[in-house]
Amino acid sequence: MSKTRPLHLFGNWKMNMSGAKTESFFEALLPVASVRGKNKNVVLSIFPPSIYLERAYRTIRKLGLEEIIFLGVQNVFSKGSGAFTGEISPEMAMDAGARYAILGHSERRSLFGESPEIVGEKVTYCASKGLLPVLCVGETLCEREEGRAWEIIERQLSVGLAGVEKSSPLIVAYEPVWAIGTGRSASPQDAEAMCRSIRRWLGDARNSPDLPILYGGSVNPGNSRELFSMDNIDGGLIGGASLDPDTFVAMIP
Ligand code: PGA
Repeated sequence: MSKTRPLHLFGNWKMNMSGAKTESFFEALLPVASVRGKNKNVVLSIFPPSIYLERAYRTIRKLGLEEIIFLGVQNVFSKGSGAFTGEISPEMAMDAGARYAILGHSERRSLFGESPEIVGEKVTYCASKGLLPVLCVGETLCEREEGRAWEIIERQLSVGLAGVEKSSPLIVAYEPVWAIGTGRSASPQDAEAMCRSIRRWLGDARNSPDLPILYGGSVNPGNSRELFSMDNIDGGLIGGASLDPDTFVAMIP
């Protein structure tokens, strides 16, 4: 079965880079991205720290790359405005150029106490406002070793998407926690098996088996080709290897 879904290359910068580096990243991407991005069935998006979102957006527009490289935000709150010190709303992120929002990243879940319910509220609100959710799901090493990986992921999916209209466009990123930032990627076969289960669940529970499903966790130019060739893996959510423009572009097949 050959894939018709586009390949997504999503770069999650986390709390890295600077304003100047944000500009130089997109400038360095210009020659390659304009040639390769246009001709291929590839969706490129970068998720800078939110404080650099607008700067990234301005740079992209100045370079004429707005049809080739999109932007997203790494987190948002589940309300439009109000007394929520330190938070930003989906509306604000869209105003600054974001098209996507990463929600439920394992670092948000484990370091900042985001429960599946909190993630679900964010996904619901973003979807209702047209900021495309990238819902991250993944099991810890301990959960995998106990044979509970699918149980965990199924719960993250069902709670995360409970309030979202079934026809709503969104993306799921399977990111096993033990593979994030460790240099130890899941094997293409293991990643494929979980993405296949996620696709089956999306078909059964939401009648949307064709939504993009990405893999994340130590993706780099050395393993991306094989991972992305799997039937049910539609691209990658890439952390460390998205900080350097040459490395990022090297993952476009
Ligand atoms: P990594 O991060 O590629 O550095 O493992 C992926 C992610 O956290 O999205």
